[in-house]
Amino acid sequence: MDAREVEVILRPVELGDLDVFFDQQLDPEANAMAAFTSADPTDREAFDNHWQRVLSDNTITNRTILAADHVAGHVAVYKADDLDGPEVTYWIGKRWWGRGIATRAVEQLLVKVPTRPLYGRCAETNPASVRVLQKCGFRMVGEDEGFANAHGKVVRENILRLDG
Ligand SMILES: CC(C)(COP(=O)(O)OP(=O)(O)OC[C@H]1O[C@@H](n2cnc3c(N)ncnc32)[C@H](O)[C@@H]1OP(=O)(O)O)[C@@H](O)C(=O)NCCC(=O)NCCS
Repeated sequence: MDAREVEVILRPVELGDLDVFFDQQLDPEANAMAAFTSADPTDREAFDNHWQRVLSDNTITNRTILAADHVAGHVAVYKADDLDGPEVTYWIGKRWWGRGIATRAVEQLLVKVPTRPLYGRCAETNPASVRVLQKCGFRMVGEDEGFANAHGKVVRENILRLDG
């Protein structure tokens, strides 16, 4: 095991995790990477409404990522409206970056959710996220663009796909 690596475990999201997720999604650098973020990451009411929606939607598989027993982030698979398969998404708290945690969390969720094809989208501002998906076997299949709240302008994005 790489010296940077810590034990990574996925478990269902608990309401007590939301305070940590909220803090993690406040980080400006993380927002700039993700690009397609909420309109106002400091709006706790909007954040809570979002999580209430996703946690009550049984078509979405949400998991909390534990790293060395700490809440390091979250990962989910949800239905993508404009693609022929669901999409994976993830967010890791900055203090945990660069230790293979996103990669191992996605790998573990891929075992739990065997649906293929499975997609991932990464803004062009997010090469680290492209790398995470590529390490998990996803291949670049297209491009798109959309308005990115974090940048206040249209940003291009890469679409990656994992086939059976
Ligand atoms: C993107 C993110 C998920 C990566 O999490 P992580 O746990 O640090 O990812 P990992 O350590 O598993 O892998 C990161 C890979 O990207 C690479 N990387 C990091 N910065 C990079 C860059 N600027 N260009 C290219 N590759 C980069 C790392 O070297 C590593 O690859 P390696 O293992 O081959 O060395 C994390 O930074 C994050 O949550 N950011 C904010 C939210 C976000 O962007 N979510 C994804 C939305 S699509």
